[in-house]
Amino acid sequence: MKLWGGRFSAGPAEAMAALSASTHFDWRLAPYDIAGSRAHARVLHRAGLLTDTELADMLAALDRLAEDVESGAFTPTVADEDVHTALERGLLERAGEELGGKLRAGRSRNDQVATLFRMWLRDAARRVASGTLDVIEALVAQAERHPDAVLPGRTHLQHAQPVLLAHHLLAHAQALVRDLGRLRDWDARAAESPYGSGALAGSSLGLDPEAVAHELGFPTSVDNSIDGTASRDFAAEFCFAVAMLGVNLSRIAEEVIIWNTAEFGYVTLDDAWATGSSIMPQKKNPDVAELTRGKAGRLIGNLTGLLATLKAQPLAYNRDLQEDKEPVFDSVEQLELLLPAIAGMIATLTFHTDRLAELAPAGFTLATDIAEWLVRRGVPFRRAHEAAGECVRVAEGRGVGLEELTDEEFAAIHPALTSEVRSVLTVQGSVASRDARGGTAPNRVAEQRERLVARLAEL
Ligand code: ARG
Repeated sequence: MKLWGGRFSAGPAEAMAALSASTHFDWRLAPYDIAGSRAHARVLHRAGLLTDTELADMLAALDRLAEDVESGAFTPTVADEDVHTALERGLLERAGEELGGKLRAGRSRNDQVATLFRMWLRDAARRVASGTLDVIEALVAQAERHPDAVLPGRTHLQHAQPVLLAHHLLAHAQALVRDLGRLRDWDARAAESPYGSGALAGSSLGLDPEAVAHELGFPTSVDNSIDGTASRDFAAEFCFAVAMLGVNLSRIAEEVIIWNTAEFGYVTLDDAWATGSSIMPQKKNPDVAELTRGKAGRLIGNLTGLLATLKAQPLAYNRDLQEDKEPVFDSVEQLELLLPAIAGMIATLTFHTDRLAELAPAGFTLATDIAEWLVRRGVPFRRAHEAAGECVRVAEGRGVGLEELTDEEFAAIHPALTSEVRSVLTVQGSVASRDARGGTAPNRVAEQRERLVARLAEL
């Protein structure tokens, strides 16, 4: 069945129909399409275009159709061009040609699809947000489990300064909380219904787009019918929000991959969240993390592909826009696979805190503490930095740690370097001293975690 054909004397060529078909991917919009039809039937009735009985019969037929779609008793055929075509066929079979044929008045697949896609995506965004929340909660739980553990903080992947493990884990959580915020901000912009825009110009039949919008869970309808049918920035913006989420997850993943190597030895993966090798019996691989890293690339690809599809399309609807859905559906599908797995992997990671503590001071990571100790004694930072650098040079030359330098060696480097400097030459002392807001001192990290958990409760 086709929704057009009056002006054609022959049907489409097979290859034309095959190219045109979208049912194999847009069928998932079916429940939203039926919801749209119910709302549309009501505004047709209010505009005097359906009688009371016709409305009741139409709604009953739509209910039966919805049941049959759900149970699988009604499915699209290869001849149905898209979800809208298939469902019109289903409606005609249930309501009869006379009544069923009245529903299409005042709407077009252009405003329908733009609306249904937004509805589907708003629900999908909630599922993605809930999966993301589980990842955040796994990070927070690990932070809570290790309130005092330290970690060699790195810049350029080189040892930099010791930090609390909880501080580091919460840094990842902060990024994911912003991702949740982006999804929420996105929803406020996406929450406008294009239904009633018709093909592009709006409807002449006295229908009420706002009433349809409200029935479909939108606070309002679009201000401009051309924009309503032609714009897909809501889809591209969603793809960005989830690509950013994928990129943030990939940064966690990359660290887990590194931490899990024998050289680092920071973590052990739970057996349930690792895989083996078909040839090397000893292997236990971080595949969850690697797939996270890999899928981030795919999410970026979906965003850039969609932007390329949208670029330079003249207003209003063009069939190019049918290409908008698969990348978005794919991004959601990938995240629905990924989020529970990465949450499970993080929740079950074993951190080797002794190893982390042993490595935290390695690489002279307390040199900054010497410099800042000197600054507190009135030494200009420039000079203090130089003196701390000399301490590193002497210690490195002797093959010892900074705390093993003798009082004489300290004094020879700078007269202000008395034996009291040793108070900052422990990892605990260093960490505790960074006690300004946002710093790595245990009380500040605890405070950070509380604020983050409180923010989650509001989301
Ligand atoms: N299936 C199309 C899409 O997903 C909607 C149909 C619009 N077709 C048309 N000839 N205007 O964009």
